[in-house]
Amino acid sequence: MLGSKRILLIIGGGIAAYKALDLIRRLREQGATVTPVLTRAGAEFVTPLSASALAGHKVFSELFDLTDEAEMGHIELSRSADLIVVAPATADLMAKMAGGRADDLASTLLLATDTPVLVAPAMNVRMWLHAATQRNVATLCADGIMLVGPNEGDMACGEHGPGRMAEVQEIVAGVVTALADGPLSGQRILVTSGPTHEPIDPVRYIANRSSGVQGTAIARALAALGAEVVFVTGPASVPPPGGVEVVRVETAREMLAAVEAALPVAAAVFAAAVADWHVAGASDRKLKKATGGLANLEFAENPDILARVAGLKKGRPRLVVGFAAETEDVIANATAKRLRKGCDWIVANDVSPATGIMGGGENAVTLITGEGPETWPRMGKAAVAERLAERLAAALA
Ligand code: C5P
Repeated sequence: MLGSKRILLIIGGGIAAYKALDLIRRLREQGATVTPVLTRAGAEFVTPLSASALAGHKVFSELFDLTDEAEMGHIELSRSADLIVVAPATADLMAKMAGGRADDLASTLLLATDTPVLVAPAMNVRMWLHAATQRNVATLCADGIMLVGPNEGDMACGEHGPGRMAEVQEIVAGVVTALADGPLSGQRILVTSGPTHEPIDPVRYIANRSSGVQGTAIARALAALGAEVVFVTGPASVPPPGGVEVVRVETAREMLAAVEAALPVAAAVFAAAVADWHVAGASDRKLKKATGGLANLEFAENPDILARVAGLKKGRPRLVVGFAAETEDVIANATAKRLRKGCDWIVANDVSPATGIMGGGENAVTLITGEGPETWPRMGKAAVAERLAERLAAALA
């Protein structure tokens, strides 16, 4: 699947570095060429000899290694790959990346490259949750760096929580997604997904039951056809796919800002269940029962992101796809919605509780285009996503 793809694998200094050795094997099994780069700390955990033996390739580690510079300079090394993978990516390495520092070979390669970068963070849970790391993660995501993981679980340090490096097969899946060639290669596509959370006060919010499963599957399916996917997600209950650019938001207004920042794109799929309203003047203090605050919430309308993008006079995506979650008269309501919102297609589904679709694994949709409605059989959400991605590819061809 990765035949002839060249991967530069930067191995940072963490206990998860031993998994990078298995990652080399699995990537090579898929046909990729792997060039390992060991940071100084990485070399404390795995030896250059084991990395080079498994890669069947010289390991690079020093910035000012004259032999390496004569053979291949660091600029050339950083650009000759199809993808740079950083696994494990330590808090320190991510801080350097976010700050644009270049004081060793790994950070210099990451600063000099014009190649896509996929990062697999691995660190202690407190380090991952620290505001500084979260700021760095947000910066890296905004810079277009792709993330896979981290996962939640037991850690080598004895603690439990998010920070474990993604499993090797998840990283390989992320690499396959990031490098997929297909009919959508070279096309940048935006997908919104998940619910939005609209704050009432610092501890309460208004949300909906969207899991983000369908939007996530659509992003994965588009990336599998080669698209460069920007995935703008609210607080979903499933992790975003590896190998796509992820922008995390909470509110509808944040989602609009992220969508606008992602433009221009060839196509946009609005699968998010965006709240129509937010609490006007949400309190920055916790509302107390005694004040009767909760009884007097006032609402203000949220921007309609789909309608706004569909109505753009300049820079409108060639194809704008909306969703219509309905509980009655699905086709009639969705057909009207397509016209009202000005989008090209609407994917309509019946989300009455009896269907089990909202939060479930299956979906039964009707695709409404300018040609009319087309009802698809009930199938898994991944299958719906693949079929929709193929239709998008055909429409953009
Ligand atoms: O009007 P309704 O919420 O039913 O429309 C659903 C479609 O519009 C979905 O594609 C959803 O992502 C999008 N939408 C939006 N911004 C809103 C409300 C809905 O993009 N504020």
